[in-house]
Amino acid sequence: MTWLITGGAGYIGAHVARAMTEAGERAVALDDLSAGVPARLPDHVPLVEGSSLDGDLLKRVFAEHGVTGVVHLAARKQVAESVAQPTRYYRENVGGLVTLLDAVAEAGIEHFVFSSSAAVYGDPGWISSRRTRPARR
Ligand SMILES: NC(=O)c1ccc[n+]([C@@H]2O[C@H](COP(=O)([O-])OP(=O)(O)OC[C@H]3O[C@@H](n4cnc5c(N)ncnc54)[C@H](O)[C@@H]3O)[C@@H](O)[C@H]2O)c1
Repeated sequence: MTWLITGGAGYIGAHVARAMTEAGERAVALDDLSAGVPARLPDHVPLVEGSSLDGDLLKRVFAEHGVTGVVHLAARKQVAESVAQPTRYYRENVGGLVTLLDAVAEAGIEHFVFSSSAAVYGDPGWISSRRTRPARR
């Protein structure tokens, strides 16, 4: 298989790229380098500089590299920034996912791994109540 790793020059993406190539899989990274560092990637993993919001680029990368699976890690993840700029985060994170899913479906790619966040499960309540429970005398 050949995997496209979006956000491949990021913290998790570079580890995924390394683990995949050590396991004998081919990988190509896509990253807009807003937070990514190309030097994190193993030498033999090509880096395409661009955005998951660019549907035409995605189609080109799929075709040129014969991509058969996608690991989607490209996202903005700063909590304070996401609260200050919610529409930007929505546009880039949700929009990037939707654009990517459209391109994946059109290309007939059947393997897709999406890294989200434990934060989507919310606060289960008992954690914060434990934290705030007053100490016994
Ligand atoms: N680091 C963690 O502990 C952790 C835990 C759970 C979930 N996650 C999730 O995993 C994903 C990756 O996390 P990370 O820690 O590797 O973050 P990171 O910031 O190190 O990596 C994200 C990469 O995506 C790139 N990027 C951002 N938007 C892009 C876009 N539109 N197109 C192309 N590239 C783009 C950035 O340049 C960066 O290199 C995020 O969705 C994050 O919320 C991270």
